Amino acid sequence: MSQLPAILEIGHPTLRKTAQPVDPLDPALPDLIDRMINSVLEANGMGLAAPQIGESKRVVIVASRPNARYPHAPDMPLTALINPKITPLSDEIELGFEGCLSIPGIRGRVPRHAQIRLSYQQVGSNDWVHVDWSGFLARVAQHEIDHLDGLLWLDRIEDNREIVSEAQHFAADT
Ligand code: NI
Repeated sequence: MSQLPAILEIGHPTLRKTAQPVDPLDPALPDLIDRMINSVLEANGMGLAAPQIGESKRVVIVASRPNARYPHAPDMPLTALINPKITPLSDEIELGFEGCLSIPGIRGRVPRHAQIRLSYQQVGSNDWVHVDWSGFLARVAQHEIDHLDGLLWLDRIEDNREIVSEAQHFAADT
């Protein structure tokens, strides 16, 4: 197996760039998605955006399933989102804990839209898929799409007291 790409951490300039739209028919896309899937599974992440492995492209993997880092995550098939966009479906905002593979060791309670419509393309097709997500999945989608716009969850925090260490978070969780 080829070596996994390194996951960039906060401070790396690529994480602060606006990522470029992608042609779903680009023959290089399946390889990028394979590398992203390997990385997110290895790291026990819930999602990964291409800029996190140094590719400033609008590609996201959503990998929600229960694991040691997120024991209550919903189980769903791995999904690659090409050029994803979000429309909020209500004014409701929820606070919920998030972590990020690019910000190791801490988590925070981040305000996000509770219900969204997610639109994205799939590999090999110019068609658009539309799904309505709420709760945890809506949060993951908003977190990952923020990465495509050079934003990290810390930028969304309204009160620094909402930031905790990962060890403290798990201590409080159990
Ligand atoms: Ni992240």
